[in-house]
Amino acid sequence: MPTTILVAGGAGYIGSHTVKYLLKNNYNVVVVDNLVYGHKEAVLTPNFEQIDLADKSALDRVFKKYKIDAVIHFAAFTYVGESVVDPKKYYWNNVVNTLNLLDVMIENNVKNIVFSSTCATYGNPQYTPLDENHPQNPINPYGKTKLMMEQIMADYEEAYGLKYAALRYFNAAGADFQGELGECHDPETHLIPIVLKAIKGDIPNIKVFGTDYDTPDGTCIRDYIHVEDLADAHMLALEKIFKDNKSIHINLGTGIGTSVKEIIQAAEEVTGQKVPLVYVGRREGDPAILYASNNKAKELLNWTTKYMDIKEIIKTAWLWEKGDKFKSNKDYLTVN
Ligand code: UFG
Repeated sequence: MPTTILVAGGAGYIGSHTVKYLLKNNYNVVVVDNLVYGHKEAVLTPNFEQIDLADKSALDRVFKKYKIDAVIHFAAFTYVGESVVDPKKYYWNNVVNTLNLLDVMIENNVKNIVFSSTCATYGNPQYTPLDENHPQNPINPYGKTKLMMEQIMADYEEAYGLKYAALRYFNAAGADFQGELGECHDPETHLIPIVLKAIKGDIPNIKVFGTDYDTPDGTCIRDYIHVEDLADAHMLALEKIFKDNKSIHINLGTGIGTSVKEIIQAAEEVTGQKVPLVYVGRREGDPAILYASNNKAKELLNWTTKYMDIKEIIKTAWLWEKGDKFKSNKDYLTVN
C-alpha cells in the first residue's frame, strides 16, 4: 500500500476533507495547492507546498523531497458557466497542468493516481440512473477537460503503465461533521450553501432556476453525496488500484435524486427557518434529472454511503455555515 500520498488541490473543498480522512487513516499526506481557490487553513497536514502545477520543476522537487508513492488529484477549475465563456482557463489548468503532473509522476516512477472526474462528462442523460457505461458527451468545456483527462490517462496506462481511478462525482455536499472543514467557494454557485446563506441573511434570497422541468415538482433533481463519503471513496479507490494494478472508472453518488424544492424544504426543517426565495427561469445547461447508479462503487470498492438522508447532509453544512469561516481566499492569493 502507498504510504506517502501527494494531494494536489488539498486546500480545496473535497481535497481538504480527503486529507483529513487520509490522516485519520494513518497515511502520510503532502498537499500541493496554488491557493488560487484553496484555503490555507483547510490544509491539515504540516507538509504543505504552495506551488502551481504549471511549475514542473517545483513539482519535481516536491516528489523527490517527500518520496511520493501515489497521487490524488483534485486541483482544477470547476465553474461550468465560466468554462463556457473562458475555456482557455479550463484547458490550460485542467488539462495542460494535469499533463505536467503526470509527466512528473512518470519521471519519478509514481504510477498510481486517483483523479477527480465528474458526472458532467456524461452530458445530457439518455437514461437515469446514470451508470458508468452511459455515453460520455460533455456539453461544456469543464466536462470536456475532465473527459479528455480520462482519455489521456487511458493512453498513458497503455504506454507508461499508469494506473488510475477516475471518480465521477455527482453533487458534492455537506461538511466535516466536526465543523472543522466545509464548503467555501468564492463565488459560491452551489445550491445547498446558497440556500443556507439565504437563511442566514448573507444574501437576500435564493433564485430557484426553473419550475417547469419534467419532474414531479417541476424543479431539477440531483444526487447530493456527502463530502466525507467522497473522501472515503478516494482512499478505497487508491487502495484498490494499488492492490489490483488495474485502472477503474467509478460513479460516486448516493443513487437518490432530490429536487431543488426538496432541498429547500429539508433546509427549512433542519434550521427551523424559512428560506427566502424567488422563482426565476431555467439556468442554461441544467439537465432536469441527474442521479447515479452507484452499484459499481459498492461492488468494486466495498463502499457504503454513510450519509443517505439529505437532512443529515444539510445539518453538517449548516453546522459549518454557522461557525467560523475561512478568510476570503484572496487573503492568501499569492500565485496567479
Ligand atoms: N440551483 C438553483 N439556484 C441556485 C443554484 C442552483 O436553483 O442558486 C439549482 C440548479 O439549477 C440545479 C441544482 O440547483 O438544478 C444544483 O445546482 P448546483 O449548481 O449546486 O450543482 P450542479 O448540479 O449544477 O453542478 C454539479 C457540480 C458541477 C458539475 C455539474 C454537472 O457542482 O461540478 O454538477 O452537471 F459539473
